[in-house]
Amino acid sequence: ARERHLQSILATVPDAMIVIDERGRITSFSAAAERLFGYGESELLGRNVSCLMPRADSIRHDEYIGHYLETGERRIIGIGRIVVGQRRDGSTFPMELSVGEAGGPEGRIFTGFIRDLTEKEHDELRLKELQ
Ligand code: HEM
Repeated sequence: ARERHLQSILATVPDAMIVIDERGRITSFSAAAERLFGYGESELLGRNVSCLMPRADSIRHDEYIGHYLETGERRIIGIGRIVVGQRRDGSTFPMELSVGEAGGPEGRIFTGFIRDLTEKEHDELRLKELQ
């Protein structure tokens, strides 16, 4: 029942939602995340979340998580950050990332909420053009 509950949330939340384990492996990928990144959930389950970002961060993302697990120092959890995501076709886009943490039955999990800022950027450009 809990699993079905989670599935219905993942199908409905308007923002992209991604769940990973302590090693960065994707355990859930919402419908909005599928649309945003261009991958189906089944292709990504078990893969490292680092496949969704450009190289500069992807080669270090395991370290980012490891640093947090060792020190408890939060750099994004509970704070949020604007970062760059990378779609399946290699194109990149600005996104607002919020990360939460929870204790799961098989260890700690992290939940990421992603808001695509592409439209926002367009709106701001358009506003500037109008001024
Ligand atoms: C930390 C980038 C997605 C979970 C970080 C940091 C960066 C980063 C730059 C730490 C920076 C620092 O040390 O100052 C990205 C990018 C993403 C992404 C570019 C684009 C897809 C995600 C997602 C999750 C996640 C989807 C969770 C589902 C974490 C965790 C940490 C972290 C747990 C360590 C805790 C913390 O720093 O507060 N990420 N991340 N990341 N990220 Fe990501």
